[in-house]
Amino acid sequence: MRRPFIAGNWKMNTTVEEAAALVSSMIGDLNNETAVDIVLCPPFISFYRISETIEGTSVRLGAQNMYFKEKGAYTGEISPLMLKPLCQYVILGHSERRQIFGETDGMVNEKIKAALAAGLTPIFCIGETLEENDGGRTGTVITRQIREGLKDVPSNKEIVVAYEPIWAIGTGRAAAGGQAGKTIGLIRSEIAGMLGKEKAEATRILYGGSVTAANIAEFISEPQIDGALVGGASLKAADFTGIVKQVASIKAAP
Ligand code: PGA
Repeated sequence: MRRPFIAGNWKMNTTVEEAAALVSSMIGDLNNETAVDIVLCPPFISFYRISETIEGTSVRLGAQNMYFKEKGAYTGEISPLMLKPLCQYVILGHSERRQIFGETDGMVNEKIKAALAAGLTPIFCIGETLEENDGGRTGTVITRQIREGLKDVPSNKEIVVAYEPIWAIGTGRAAAGGQAGKTIGLIRSEIAGMLGKEKAEATRILYGGSVTAANIAEFISEPQIDGALVGGASLKAADFTGIVKQVASIKAAP
């Protein structure tokens, strides 16, 4: 049994004060949901404030990005060594990093290896564009992203994978649950080919892209889908706690 996993990707939103208020407004509800791993990924500058609020709860922090070097002349970047004392998770290869900031599969692979070496758990994002989807190339694209992203990655460390079709991110146009479940099944078999069947069965694979409290049930009911990477809806306390509660109750059902 894979433990359900919900991460909130706040992206470039909230000042420190707003971040602290948002966490305070939902921490009580989130801390009640002990059957789900819950990870909040706020902007770096809010980490300290938020770690105080979540201390002693089951909620964990995650970063939205990092560079793969340990330290040095890399203006504006944050290293795995800097993150490790502050958080357990790091989102890597998000499509916004790939599309807006030019990250390649090779760079994402470097980041995954560096995160694992530092003891962080990557949330490795993959997904196809609308054009690739329309052209029937989803399988090819996903396969390439996994093979290059997980190249030379050790099989004895935890990695969480997030399948996020780019056309579904921030558009209000979520994928259909069945379709996402099928693609995630393909992702799992690809991981089995690279890291072994046992590792693939143990790996949590999330869906991401316009997840809301109104559609989460459709995704989490799919046996292949272990949780969600939530963007917009993670910035609203009622929506995010609503998502977490539904995941807890649906995955707990016999
Ligand atoms: P969204 O973003 O939920 O706002 O579509 C998801 C993501 O980019 O991780």
